[in-house]
Amino acid sequence: MNVYDAIYGRRDVRHFRPDPVPDDVLVRLLRAAHHAGSVGYMQPWNFLIIRSHGVRGQIHEVFARENRRAGEMFDGERATLYRSLKLQGILDAPLNLAVTCDRERKGPAVLGRHSVRDTDLYSTCCAVQNFWLAARAEGVGVGWVSILDIDEVKTILGIPPAVLLVAYLCVGYPQEFRDRPMLEEVGWESRTPLRDVVFEDAWNSRSSLFPSAAEEKSP
Ligand SMILES: Cc1cc2nc3c(=O)[nH]c(=O)nc-3n(C[C@H](O)[C@H](O)[C@H](O)COP(=O)(O)O)c2cc1C
Repeated sequence: MNVYDAIYGRRDVRHFRPDPVPDDVLVRLLRAAHHAGSVGYMQPWNFLIIRSHGVRGQIHEVFARENRRAGEMFDGERATLYRSLKLQGILDAPLNLAVTCDRERKGPAVLGRHSVRDTDLYSTCCAVQNFWLAARAEGVGVGWVSILDIDEVKTILGIPPAVLLVAYLCVGYPQEFRDRPMLEEVGWESRTPLRDVVFEDAWNSRSSLFPSAAEEKSP
């Protein structure tokens, strides 16, 4: 699969088949993540593989509580639609993966991190994206779960206070890779036209790349 196929075919997956991900496949995905760019070559990440049903059960409880609270942000039809959405596969996927960022790795002076301290977090997100795309190329699904009380999850997993939990991922073979994002399919959200997010020379100044609002070709 070429990189564009992986990019356009990547989906956030919430419906998994129970079959395990073979170790050699998982190692390839982790290696792809570990080859992400990072500020000052800091490599601030760790990857915590969670297979235990007991541990995942505890994390699912945290999700269920947070999800009830999150649902209260919406009213009427949107609240009903929200409650109908499956927004995680914590127990269905054969494994979960916590991706962390050690903000103190390599000491206080990291090349390139002096001005923007959060570049360690950005680096960790690059690792997550590498993992996600490599997984797509392997036919493995990944779902990012952010509806969590991060401190509670850190306590469950024994993650030290100075280490940030950046991503909690569900990983396994998907029931399907949808053609479009689920949130688009159900009418929750749609893709913003590219021309609306590309500026040129100054903020809010439309780029000459997109002179008209002609229908964008889907990839
Ligand atoms: C940082 C981040 C957090 C996300 N958290 C959740 C989540 O808690 N639950 C969920 O169902 N999807 C979550 N998603 C997936 C997004 O909803 C999804 O990426 C978006 O709807 C576009 O769909 P696609 O990834 O299939 O293209 C998250 C994605 C990102 C990048």
